[in-house]
Amino acid sequence: MAELKDVTRRDAIKAGAATIAGPLIRTAHAATNSVQFGMVGTGSRGTYLLKHLKGIDSGKCVAICDINPDALDKAQQTIGGTPARYKDYRELLADKNVEAVFVTTPLFMHFPVTKDALEAGKHVFCEKSLVFRPEEVHALRALVLSRPKQVLQTGLQRRYSKLYQAARGMIQRGVLGEVTHVQAQWHRNPGWKYAKEKGDLGNWRLFRKYSGGVVAELASHQIDVADWMLGMTPESVMGLGTRDFMNDGRDIFDNVQLIYKYPKGRRLVWTGISTSSHLPALLCQRTEMGEIIMGTQGSLHITVGDDNNRALAMWFREPNPPAKAEPAKDAKKEKFVAGATMVSATGGRALPVFLDKDMMTGKESFVEKELKFARQWLLAKGILMPEEDVNPVDTELDSFFNDCRTGGRPKADLEVGLQDSTAVILSNLAMDEGRTVAFSEIDKMGVAGEKPAAKPAAKKA
Ligand SMILES: NC(=O)c1ccc[n+]([C@@H]2O[C@H](COP(=O)([O-])OP(=O)(O)OC[C@H]3O[C@@H](n4cnc5c(N)ncnc54)[C@H](O)[C@@H]3O)[C@@H](O)[C@H]2O)c1
Repeated sequence: MAELKDVTRRDAIKAGAATIAGPLIRTAHAATNSVQFGMVGTGSRGTYLLKHLKGIDSGKCVAICDINPDALDKAQQTIGGTPARYKDYRELLADKNVEAVFVTTPLFMHFPVTKDALEAGKHVFCEKSLVFRPEEVHALRALVLSRPKQVLQTGLQRRYSKLYQAARGMIQRGVLGEVTHVQAQWHRNPGWKYAKEKGDLGNWRLFRKYSGGVVAELASHQIDVADWMLGMTPESVMGLGTRDFMNDGRDIFDNVQLIYKYPKGRRLVWTGISTSSHLPALLCQRTEMGEIIMGTQGSLHITVGDDNNRALAMWFREPNPPAKAEPAKDAKKEKFVAGATMVSATGGRALPVFLDKDMMTGKESFVEKELKFARQWLLAKGILMPEEDVNPVDTELDSFFNDCRTGGRPKADLEVGLQDSTAVILSNLAMDEGRTVAFSEIDKMGVAGEKPAAKPAAKKA
């Protein structure tokens, strides 16, 4: 890489500023052709999405629905305007102005609302984890396949992250060698707490009749990352789930470790605990959640971040094998140099993961080339972090509206969502029954005599 010796602080700021853009996504002619959408379940996630949706003019909010009037008020304040307000989601689905529906209810309501919305002819964006029960995996597949003109997208926003896409690109180009293992964690300190004033339904995450616990709420994102990065889906899962530290009446586990066996010796190890938020990755610059993707020639540390901390990735080259110890001249000394602890290699320096916008294409103008060299130099020196210019949540939302208009296939489509939900369901089963569960078991679960709809051929990522 050419070094620019005269890069000043001002250049650094200029180059850095180029990466930081607001969340507004303006598409040509979007205002006149925007997708009219409604949202069912305007709680915490729904309102967060509405905050982002406000800046995306390829969609227009025309209706909101929640059983809780306070949640509706908050949603209306967030999105502004005068969307129709409904308490019963079936009324929102009967609203002819609504073309697309966001399903941001608790997990146990995802399938009933999604099913009714699809049958009402709407496009659907449903939050992860897509479905809750085994029978819903089969029923949703059959329903979506029978309605090819409607879009179904799952809220797995990492699929829309430029940094995660760059990581996948590195793996496909062989930069990490053979990728064999993924470690992922989502640790919190403390974990979710029971809020008395909200009752059990308001604390739905803590109860198995509404929720799949930490596996559905947290691991689901990272199992999907492992499937995507490894380019395959698991064969089986085993794990240990117990309730040890959060004793407030919940019946979900608060202490979870899972091992997923993939073909060809690949593995994902996932852990979710509620007593520490320490993240021993990304040079400890972040807490809670992240993934380590390990290959024979290098590893990636990656996390998606949030509104305040953008996605971050670091690449470490695999150190060269340690040189063989020279035979010591002094026979007595030799005793001390031999031994496994003496040959542990030093860890490599973190290297930047270049986004597409930072790569040279050969088609740059002189000024563009200079700017890219400056950015690459700053990135390599660690002065600048490779950051996404758009929050992937904005990208997933804009992309959904675009697919509604063009009939495009979402990156987080039906099969990505169902595979992810299957992993959640089977992981909980493995922990409940204390056994290794094969992923093929889902084919027979929740099927009463009838054959489940055939899975379409896997698409290449
Ligand atoms: N993609 C992500 O990163 C992400 C992050 C957080 C949450 N989520 C998902 O979003 C979903 C909602 O989570 P949340 O944190 O917003 O929960 P929440 O409890 O804050 O909000 C859920 C809302 O749904 C409403 N609701 C319940 N039943 C309803 C019904 N029958 N009709 C209409 N409204 C109903 C509730 O009153 C509540 O306002 C979950 O599936 C969760 O996993 C995704």
